[in-house]
This record gives sequence, structure tokens and C-alpha cells, in this order.
Amino acid sequence: MTKILAIETSCDETACAIVHLANNGRVRPLSSVISTQIALHRKTQGVVPEVAARAHLRKIQVVVREALRKAGVSLRDIDHIAVTHGPGLATSLLTGAEFAKALSLATGKNIIPVNHMLGHLYSAFLENPKIPLPSINLIVSGGHTYIILLKNKKEFRIIGRTVDDAVGEAFDKIAKMLNLPYPGGPEISKLAEFGRMDYNFPRPMIHTNNFNFSFSGLKTAVLYKIRDEKIDLKKLQNKRNISFSFQNAAVEVLISKTIAAAKKYKAKSITLSGGVAANKKLRKDLNAAAKQNKLKFYVPEFHLCTDNALMIANAAAIKLQNGFKPIKPTALKVDPVLEFKRS
Ligand code: KG4
Ligand code: ZN
Repeated sequence: MTKILAIETSCDETACAIVHLANNGRVRPLSSVISTQIALHRKTQGVVPEVAARAHLRKIQVVVREALRKAGVSLRDIDHIAVTHGPGLATSLLTGAEFAKALSLATGKNIIPVNHMLGHLYSAFLENPKIPLPSINLIVSGGHTYIILLKNKKEFRIIGRTVDDAVGEAFDKIAKMLNLPYPGGPEISKLAEFGRMDYNFPRPMIHTNNFNFSFSGLKTAVLYKIRDEKIDLKKLQNKRNISFSFQNAAVEVLISKTIAAAKKYKAKSITLSGGVAANKKLRKDLNAAAKQNKLKFYVPEFHLCTDNALMIANAAAIKLQNGFKPIKPTALKVDPVLEFKRS
């Protein structure tokens, strides 16, 4: 029986969660607190790293205290401190890591460094620990787009990735073109619900014989369409149609490659995770495509898709079960471009 306190500050959410890892391997959430900086970054229509780091610094102590209070435990009850050590914004990561080090030094509890992407990868397991494996996991976030083959809870392989922009980045940049508030993904998806006309944007790399993606050309196609056809962006319906057309194109490529990967690797299930997994159309269409191909489909609840510390605590628990030995605080290093691999 182990209790893990996890801290996540890799981008613009200051988050802390506490989980209980039972001897049978079951992870039970005790609390999860997220303080989002969205309102702060609206003014600049994107995250300014220095502003994000300062906000983490202001909030981290309050968020950790709140997570302890909600879980009804004290620091003495915690066995390990988990923290995201990359990838992410350097100064944001440092705030969480330095706080974790201080907690570790004060309590004598060792640290489990967690790769942020590992958090997303395993997030669907929190609600469904028995997802049938092998599984194909589509991770779609603001900074990353991956197709992962998860053979078992210990072994995975990246079989596809974006060659340029991440899909969330494309959502955010197109939202900026349409003068929508930050973050753009949810705004585009709301507008798309009322879109009617499909501009039939390109589906980049949809027919290539691999599982890679490219979203930068799609973004440029949207830009040129607005410019060449002098689309009036003051008209709400025009914004809705562009959002609808872009979302259709992006979702179609994501689904086509994910299903192709599942077939090639004879997967038993498909899991979807990362911030863009909050997109209703992607959830619905991927679910339908999985069903059509007789594959089980899993996607975490909305609050577990975008950045949170529960997924970091869960990944830390899985690392422990896989034999990871927690490290001394002095050995903790952050890496903004941390590679996506087991530890
Ligand atoms: O995983 P996440 O919270 O942070 C990163 O690790 O990057 O993902 C954030 C991304 C942003 O690009 C945001 O616009 C996108 O997820 N996103 C969405 C939706 N909700 C969040 N994209 C499309 N539709 C949504 N409903
Ligand atoms: Zn993320």
C-alpha cells in the first residue's frame, strides 16, 4: 500500500494529485487539484513562458496544500513524490521540480520523475485498468502527436509522429487566424458544431505508407483559403464553416492512421489521450471507427485529457510496479526536450 503525491507544471496548469497504489496494482485517486492559467494567457493569445513560470510559483504551494487537504492526508502519509521532469517549458518544469525537491528534502521521501507523455499514454488506464493489450494509443496534445503501440504496461514503441506541427498546435494557430481566444482547440470545436459548408481542406499524408502526420500544410491551406477567397471573418457563419472544415480534415487523418496502425499491429484496443482528446468529434468518430473494426475503444474523462497531475501520479505508480527505484532529490534533472521512452 503506497501513497504518491504528484506535481505537474510542464506548461500552463499548476496541478497536484494524490493516489493510493494498492498491493494488487490498482490505482485509486484520492485528490486532484488543477489551477489553470488560461485567463492569464488570453491577453497574449498564447503562453509566455516567463509569465507561466511566475504563475506556477505563486500557485504551487496552495495547490499542493489543497490536494493534501482534499485527500485527507498529511505529508507524513506520503511515500513518494512524483513530478513531471519533461518535456515542457524549461522554467515551468523547474518550478515544479524545485518544489518537489524541497518537499523531498523536508520529508526524506524520494522522487519519481515522470515523462509528461508517459502520463498521457497511461491516462486511459486510470478508469479502465484492464484495457486489452496490445493497444494502439493516439496521443494528441498541444505539443505532440504520436501513435504508440503499447505491447504491455512495460513496453511501448512509437510507430508514428508528426513531422512538423502537433495537431493541438494547428487547432490553436487556426483559432488565432479566426481571432478566437486562447486556447483555440475548444473554441474551434464549439464553432464547428454549427458549421455547414465543407471547404474540403487537404488531408496531409493520409495515403502515405506510414503512421506519420503533418499538420503545417493544412494550417497553410486554411490561411490561403481565407486570403484567396477573401472570406469575411466578421461573419460568424464563415468562422463556423472554416472550423468545421479544418476539424473534419484533421480528425479524418488522425482516425485513418490510427485504424491502419491498429490493423497492422493486430491491436485489441484503441486508446485516445492528450488535450485534443477532449474534442467531441474526434472521440465520437474514433469510437465509431474502432467499433466498425471490432476494436475496444477507451478515452479518459475530459478532465483527464488536458494536463493534470492525476495522470502523472498514475504513470508514477505504473513505473513503480515496473520496478523503478525512486531517486534522491539531488539526482532530479528537468529536460524540456525529454525523449519519449520508458523512463
Ligand atoms: O495535453 P494538453 O493539455 O497540453 C499539452 O501537453 O500540450 O493539450 C492542450 C491542447 C491545446 O492545443 C488545446 O487547444 C487542445 O489541447 N484542446 C482541444 C480541445 N480541448 C483542448 N483541441 C480540440 N478540441 C478540444 N475540445
Ligand atoms: Zn499534455
